[in-house]
Amino acid sequence: MSARPALVVTRRIPAAVESRAQELFDTCLNPNDCPMDEAALVTAMREADALLPTVTDRITAELLGLQDRRVRIVANFGVGFNNIDVDAAKAQGVVVTNTPGVLTDDTADLAMTLLLMVARRTGEGERHVRAQQWTGWRPTHMLGARVTGKTLGLIGLGRIGGAVARRATHGFGMRVLFVDPYASDAQAAATGAERRTSLEEVLGESDFVSLHCPATPETHHLLNAARLSAMRPHAFLINTARGDVVDESALVDALRSGTIAGAGLDVFEREPQVHGALLGMENVVLLPHLGSATEETRVAMGNRALDNLVAFFGGGSPGDRVA
Ligand code: DGY
Repeated sequence: MSARPALVVTRRIPAAVESRAQELFDTCLNPNDCPMDEAALVTAMREADALLPTVTDRITAELLGLQDRRVRIVANFGVGFNNIDVDAAKAQGVVVTNTPGVLTDDTADLAMTLLLMVARRTGEGERHVRAQQWTGWRPTHMLGARVTGKTLGLIGLGRIGGAVARRATHGFGMRVLFVDPYASDAQAAATGAERRTSLEEVLGESDFVSLHCPATPETHHLLNAARLSAMRPHAFLINTARGDVVDESALVDALRSGTIAGAGLDVFEREPQVHGALLGMENVVLLPHLGSATEETRVAMGNRALDNLVAFFGGGSPGDRVA
């Protein structure tokens, strides 16, 4: 029997990282790439020393509390870790790590992609061309909203929010406001963003609002009907954070009633399900949770998760420990 720690990787990850995992650990891969069901996760928790899950796996208090659990570390493939019951992990003495830093730029790029797409109606335009409905250039065709020089409000000025602020300021000459009780003045100064103390101030002053806060009980449905009403009618909402930061039904109502002008969404409340009403709206851009989806970043995320496991099984403290 192998003396190496047993690792279960719940989804396919880039081949180079799977190979490295196999070199380092007694690794069980998921060749089908289907999300593991509850029974498979229970087996993994009982038979492996470590689990490498993703956002699609819910690592619940029940799994962490299994009496015959063998897993001692959950090394999440992702910076967000709301898929893991961190309080239960702490209570059970299970270490949890995430993968911060390596996906900052790609996620910020995707937030800007959504912002530009929804403002300049590019999803709609592309559908128009593909449907062979385009009859030629005309001065009043598909006029969108200018991005350059407008005001961007950031809800959260962590690593990704800061990277969006830099892109918006230096790339598009935007004025950037933010609200984030956890951000220091030094962080704000480094990005050039102006602090506001309330969410409502940011919502009321911005032409674009982009969400960059984690999903916690505190941020659940942070953007509810009342807060959406505090946005300006010509404003657009961008979400690359987590779906449940927005009350999706309230968002549908706000879009239908013209309370806001549009939305660019990479994340949804009940992924992979998307509210049916959103699917039919032209003023909404919908992407399938692609924030960190570049070859480079997904390899870096995998390696970061493995580095955390190596540190743990080497007797050290993993660098990205969150529990
Ligand atoms: C992240 O890293 O949080 C991505 O959203 C994938 O989970």
